[in-house]
Amino acid sequence: MDVKNLSLFPATEAQIKVHRERTFEPWGRGLDLESFCQRDIALGHLPHAAHGRWQVWILAPRENAPTNLDFFCSCETYEREVVVSGKGTMLGYGVASVITPPRHRGKGYARHMMRLLHYILADRRLSSTFPPFPLSEWGAPPAVPAGFGRGIASALYSDVGPTFYQQCGIGTSKDNGWIVKDPEVTIWQVPDDTPLPSNLEPLTEETQEEVWEADAKLIQDEVGGETPTTTFAFLPNRGVANFLQARSFFYEPSTREGGVWGCKMKDLDHTRLSFATWCLDPGREGPQTLLITRLRCSPQSFPTILNAAFNAARTFGLVQVEIWNLDSSLRDVGKELGGVTSMRDDHLSALAWYGEGSVHDVRWRYNEKFCWC
Ligand SMILES: CC(C)(COP(=O)(O)OP(=O)(O)OC[C@H]1O[C@@H](n2cnc3c(N)ncnc32)[C@H](O)[C@@H]1OP(=O)(O)O)[C@@H](O)C(=O)NCCC(=O)NCCS
Repeated sequence: MDVKNLSLFPATEAQIKVHRERTFEPWGRGLDLESFCQRDIALGHLPHAAHGRWQVWILAPRENAPTNLDFFCSCETYEREVVVSGKGTMLGYGVASVITPPRHRGKGYARHMMRLLHYILADRRLSSTFPPFPLSEWGAPPAVPAGFGRGIASALYSDVGPTFYQQCGIGTSKDNGWIVKDPEVTIWQVPDDTPLPSNLEPLTEETQEEVWEADAKLIQDEVGGETPTTTFAFLPNRGVANFLQARSFFYEPSTREGGVWGCKMKDLDHTRLSFATWCLDPGREGPQTLLITRLRCSPQSFPTILNAAFNAARTFGLVQVEIWNLDSSLRDVGKELGGVTSMRDDHLSALAWYGEGSVHDVRWRYNEKFCWC
């Protein structure tokens, strides 16, 4: 089909239901269809998604899009706060659940949907070189619903390697789509026994949001003042980091009551925030892992915090602790503590950039698990 006849549309309720059912096949992970859909609906009411921050998009023929339940492909976006060096707090987006049903695959639909998505998400006023919409090749641009078109960046986590999303470029370019950035992982095997640190407070579902608030302020200060490289980070507050932990409950309902979801160093002089938060991902293939979603600490406090994560992992019956992009100041200590660092081959963090300059030159800081979607 000629791509000029297709466009990107916000999904109706009926289309969201079809999209959700389609995502069950690749991402059901041990849940039955009903539990999977209930989980999706429940997570959609949490702060990271509520009040229009979560949106499903469909690629469909222009002539029947509102009623089409056999649309070609679909994806989701989450609006998020980001901080950009020299600019302060702005908006960005996370992109998730890109799916084409098997009968429509291999016809270029996902690629076209993702190319169109840039024109829904980008604030085109932010770059003097943002490519114009290729009208003669793609027909009329998609309508940008109220509240969209405000992003300086969007990010996704590719499970199909680095090339496909890079080729979903802005305009007709094939190399300025979502560019993989630092898909690094460090993994520790959980020891049989570790001392229970005494100078730590456990973080629970109730207490961790205030830590993410404090962390967000520090990230804003740290990234906001960075020069000369353009630096960017997602912020963990407003429910963003909490989403992964909330998701954990659906795989392990027993962890809902009394679970410890992180730890914070007792801050005697109130000058330094040292903490880790974590989540479970028991549906993954391979060893059962506790994932550190966000870590802020010094090399001195890192062993204590890691011990707390080991303790939590043992309590949950998990055998590994994993973190993405361990801060460079912690690498040596992490290695001494048995951590093995490598490049991930899935969930490749990838960035599309709508501000001035090239995405290749943008530094993504705090590229940890907390902003995954
Ligand atoms: C990935 C997916 C969305 C592609 O949809 P599609 O409409 O068939 O995509 P297009 O026709 O636009 O492009 C096909 C390209 O997808 C890429 N692709 C698809 N599956 C891939 C995989 N598992 N690994 C690497 N690349 C893959 C290929 O590069 C292919 O390029 P080619 O045509 O040169 O061979 C679809 O296969 C799908 O829904 N898969 C299951 C869900 C999933 O994994 N989604 C991605 C999560 S990050």
